[in-house]
Formats: sequence, C-alpha cells, structure tokens
Amino acid sequence: MTTLSEKYRTIRKGLKKSLSEARYAHSLGVAATASCMAMRYDISLVEKAYLAGLLHDTAKCLPDGEKLRLAQEKGIPVNEFEKASPGLLHAPLSAVLAEENYGVTDPEILSAIRLHTLGKPEMTTLEAILYVADYAEPDRPDVPYFRTIREAAFRDLDQAAYLTAKTAVDYTRKKGQGVDPRSLETLAYYKMKMEEKGLS
Ligand SMILES: [Fe+2]
Ligand SMILES: [Fe+2]
Repeated sequence: MTTLSEKYRTIRKGLKKSLSEARYAHSLGVAATASCMAMRYDISLVEKAYLAGLLHDTAKCLPDGEKLRLAQEKGIPVNEFEKASPGLLHAPLSAVLAEENYGVTDPEILSAIRLHTLGKPEMTTLEAILYVADYAEPDRPDVPYFRTIREAAFRDLDQAAYLTAKTAVDYTRKKGQGVDPRSLETLAYYKMKMEEKGLS
C-alpha cells in the first residue's frame, strides 16, 4: 500500500520535472502555507490543502499555445480575457492535469485548484485557503498588501480572501489588462463580508 508520504514524494518528483525551479519552489511554499492554514481553520483539511497546494500550478509552465489547445481539447470554455491572457487558463488546466497525471479525484481539491486565480463568492474553506496561500506563501515575489495578507491569513480567512482579491484586481489593472468579471465578483462578495464584520 502506498503511504501518504510516498504519494507526496511521487507528486513532487513529477512536478520537479514539469515546472521551472522557481515555480516548483512556489508550489512547495503554497503546499506548506495551505496545510498550516488548514491546521488553523479546519484540521480535517490538512492533507487536502497540502495536495491542492502542491498541484495548483501543475499546468503553469505549458506554453500559451498549448494551454489554449488543451483547453479546447478538454472542453474548458475560454472567454475573451483568457484568449488575451492564456496564462489564466493554467488554473482549470492544472485541475485537469492533477486528475489525469496524478490521480487526484477529490472534487474539493480539484475545485480549489480550478478557482485559485479568480476565486468566487462564498468559497469553501479549502478553496479560500488555497486562494490566499497562493499569495501568502513565503517564496512569493513582492505584491501589494503582502504583509497584510500574511497577517490576515491566520487571523480571519474572509479578510485574507478580501485582501487577496483586491491585490489580484489592482495588479491586473496596473498591468493595463482587462479584469475578468469573476475576479470582480469575488472582490465584491468579500468586500461585503468585510462591511458585515465592520472590518472594511
Ligand atoms: Fe496559479
Ligand atoms: Fe501559484
């Protein structure tokens, strides 16, 4: 029988081959951060959070043309924002590869991977953990609100998701790119949660 640590080791070996060195280091950072956040918010999610973190960027290093081709092959709808920035497709494609290449079938894990760049209103605990951990992990290059996201990550998951959504939207706007409406929906929902909690 394969033990859990053997399973993790096999996945890490595969990722090391298919990701750049920096992306591999980031994936380990997200796995560690997400699993620690699970210890804080829901101990039963530690293993799932680690796996989701490891595998969330599985498709990140595919060339853009390959991302578009694979999305078409797998029946993933591609909107105008994704056509302009095929990099966005790495999230749903990573869920496909996590299942096909690494045998992950847990719908909670696959959904967290699928949503990790755009988020959505009312994310599950696992989805929100991965969404935040992607920014809060220690090896992430500097982003605005960095410190506040990290401070909030272990204090209030809704606030951390709000700060992450705000950072993601601001960053895309700064680059002069159009913002996918799904990111705006995520931001609007978590902004409302902040107002409800008197934290905005
Ligand atoms: Fe990603
Ligand atoms: Fe990532």
